[in-house]
Amino acid sequence: MHWGMENRMARIIQPADGRCVMLAVDHGYFLGPTSGLEQPRETIEPLLPHADAIMLTRGVLRNAVDANMQAPVVLRVSGGTSILKELSNEDITVSIEDAIRLNISAMALSIFVGSEFEKETLVSMAKLVDEGERYGIPVLAVTAVGKDMARDERYLGLACRIAAEMGAHFVKTYYCENFENVVNSCPIPVIVAGGKKTPEMEALELTRNAVDHGAVGVDMGRNIFQSDSPAGMIQAVRAIVHGGASVEDAYQIYEASRPSGTERAAG
Ligand code: R5P
Repeated sequence: MHWGMENRMARIIQPADGRCVMLAVDHGYFLGPTSGLEQPRETIEPLLPHADAIMLTRGVLRNAVDANMQAPVVLRVSGGTSILKELSNEDITVSIEDAIRLNISAMALSIFVGSEFEKETLVSMAKLVDEGERYGIPVLAVTAVGKDMARDERYLGLACRIAAEMGAHFVKTYYCENFENVVNSCPIPVIVAGGKKTPEMEALELTRNAVDHGAVGVDMGRNIFQSDSPAGMIQAVRAIVHGGASVEDAYQIYEASRPSGTERAAG
């Protein structure tokens, strides 16, 4: 791997243990003002010290993140659709020049294997990989799962393997039963997305299962920023990913950070 590419990957996936806690706050690119991200700066700032990397759009980066922050940026560079239309009809929405100008560490785009615009999204990924290779910027493929697709080993294994075959440098996907088979048939690092908000205990179990079955870490959004204690939750996730904590011990970290009952009622 080229030095620049390797250096950028090492900023994201921590060389000390080969693990990563990525904070995902890119949801607005097709969901608009997502719950918990209405004021992105307020949400993001307290969480940044606990994130190995942050995944977001250039609009939120420019408007809601101070340029002196240290976390490496994984820039969402695909989009062009909204929840009101066919989501798989994405294109690349950021030029490589702007990505470089923003000093990012990786570019992320979604691939929609099995969806109407499967081919277009895969060709976009291949083009992005070519651009990334030219300038030493890794590409994170996000396996978006269409309405008709099952989040199972067969489908996620297919999507992750295709991403790797077409040159992505790492891939984000969902956790599923027999997840180790998805990881074992994918020659690039696999990161697990958090998915819809669930009770904190379940999100921590997902994190534990993901790393136990071969993921390098999580790229988690809603289960952190929609929690009643986002900072507690990201530290609990971190304790599992980097500290080898049990789900119970991690839950204690979250629980201890929660606002008291009165504060919750007022807040
Ligand atoms: C989804 O469109 C985005 O790429 C999110 O970054 C991804 O789904 C991870 O966020 P969450 O943990 O909320 O699923």
